[in-house]
Amino acid sequence: MSGGQQINAPDNLESLLKRVHEQAQKLSEGVVANYIPALAEVNPDQCALTVATLDGQITSQGDSQTQFSIQSISKVFGLMLAMERVGDDLWQRVQMEPSGQPFNSIVQLEWEKGIPRNPMINAGAILVSDVLVSHYSASKSAVLSMVRNLCGDDHVQADNRVHQSELEHGSRNSALAYLMKSFGNIEADVTEVLDHYFWQCSLTMSTEGLARSLAFLANRGTCPFSGKRITSHREAQRINALMSTSGMYDQSGHFAFTVGLPAKSGVGGGIVAIVPDYGVIAAWSPPLNSYGNSVRGMEMIRKVATELGLSVY
Ligand code: DON
Repeated sequence: MSGGQQINAPDNLESLLKRVHEQAQKLSEGVVANYIPALAEVNPDQCALTVATLDGQITSQGDSQTQFSIQSISKVFGLMLAMERVGDDLWQRVQMEPSGQPFNSIVQLEWEKGIPRNPMINAGAILVSDVLVSHYSASKSAVLSMVRNLCGDDHVQADNRVHQSELEHGSRNSALAYLMKSFGNIEADVTEVLDHYFWQCSLTMSTEGLARSLAFLANRGTCPFSGKRITSHREAQRINALMSTSGMYDQSGHFAFTVGLPAKSGVGGGIVAIVPDYGVIAAWSPPLNSYGNSVRGMEMIRKVATELGLSVY
């Protein structure tokens, strides 16, 4: 952490979040994801901001207990499980480089012979889903019980309507999966892999649940709420590194420049930013910019990080 003003006292944090949340609610830019009806119907005015700190405090404003579709934020959970299950072999099948392309881009995947650029874009997360489907007899239950272990049973559900809708409108993701299969980089049955991937995208959580569940990434792999070791320090650093370079898709450079934190976004409007050795900032508001990142979410996280001097750079 460097520069800016360090304020850790709960009262100050609460008033900062209140001010930042109020200002964000006035922003009117952005469009709610509309590629499936279940997401297009979401109320665009909803807005939540949560900060979880490593002393176990959770401070929130707005709709912080409302569960929303976490979409691509789930890529972090899938990745954690695959890293734990297959170790460094994973990096033979997916790279660790930023793509500079939209999250559902297909062009680069053919040039690079079916090896996705990173696990934070759709092709990479579908590859990770293949690893999970191939190594677990019940891959969805494995992901669900891992996330429940992190945030508590009531704080994560799968939304069947979103899952079915994703399956019905999944042509682009199917194309990515079959292209990787044609290069020999998908082992399991493609329909099973896609079903896992879409199910994972359909998970719903609140900003409080997300902040709690990913706090171990700020705490060198140990959950600050339960004291349980979730990953090694090295794996936590690696996940944070991938979030820094690729978690905000082709806006990751902009986010590093303006905010300076590892982060992951989803088209449901959620963003989770990790502040190593401090905590987690989780924000949610459905309207998205053209990159698929929440307009209000990015602005709230930028303001909190700037005012508290939290950039890692
Ligand atoms: O797979 C897809 O394209 C959708 N379920 C969106 C995933 C997502 O959140 C990408 N993000 N910004």
